[in-house]
Amino acid sequence: MDLRLVEHPLVAHKLTHLRSVDTDSPTFRRLTEELVTLLAYEATRQVRIEPTTVRTPVADAEGVRLVKPEPLVVPILRAGLGMLEGMSRLMPTAEVGFVGMVRNEETLQPVTYAERLPQDLAGRQCYVLDPMLATGGSLGGTIRFLVDRGADDITCICLLAAPEGIERLQELTADLEVPCTLVVAAVDEKLDQNGYIVPGLGDAGDRLYGVAD
Ligand code: PRP
Ligand code: URA
Repeated sequence: MDLRLVEHPLVAHKLTHLRSVDTDSPTFRRLTEELVTLLAYEATRQVRIEPTTVRTPVADAEGVRLVKPEPLVVPILRAGLGMLEGMSRLMPTAEVGFVGMVRNEETLQPVTYAERLPQDLAGRQCYVLDPMLATGGSLGGTIRFLVDRGADDITCICLLAAPEGIERLQELTADLEVPCTLVVAAVDEKLDQNGYIVPGLGDAGDRLYGVAD
C-alpha cells in the first residue's frame, strides 16, 4: 500500500482548527469539506485520463478527459458522508456508492448495516472516504467489498490515521493484486484503550452530525 501524507500549510492549519474541542458542528462540517478538496487534489493524481481535442474560440486545443467508466466515490457512513461534498466538488462526474459501517465500541469490530455499490466494479478506480482510520476494521472491510466486486484500483482518503490502523491496512492489502493508496492529512501518535485516535479529534460522526446511540 502506498501511503501519502499530504504536507501543506493550509491542510495543517485547517486540521488544527478541526481538532479543537471548541470547534462547533457547522464549522467542523465546513472544514471537513475544505480539507477533503485539498486531499482529493493529491489523491486523484493518478486518475485515468485520455486525450481529447476541443475547439477554443481561436483554434483546436489538445487536452484530456476522464476515461469511462468514471471513478466511483465510496463514503463510509456516517462520517464519510461529511467528505462527499468536498470530493464531488473536485470530481463532479464521479458516481457514488455507499457503505454503512459502525464500529462496535466494545469489540472494536465493524458491523455493516448498509451497502449500495454497483455489482461489477471491473475497470473502476474507487475512492473511499472516511475521516478516521483507527484500528482499520472499517476501511479494511470496505476495501474487501470493493475488491470482491472487481475494483482494480483503490485510494482511501482519511483525515487522521493511527499507526496501528496503517499497519493493519498494510497487512490486509499486502496480498491483494489491486493497487491500494492511502492519502492522509496526519498520522497521529496512537490509539487509546477505547480505540480512539490520540490526540485525534474525538468521534468524527458525532462531531459532524451529533451523538448517535
Ligand atoms: C468511525 C469512523 C470510521 C471508524 C474508524 O465510525 O468514521 O468509520 O469509526 O474506526 P476503525 O478504524 O477502528 O474501524 P463509527 O463506527 O464511529 O460510525 P459513524 O461514522 O456512524 O459515527
Ligand atoms: N472513530 C472516530 O470517530 N474517532 C476515533 O478516534 C476513532 C474511531
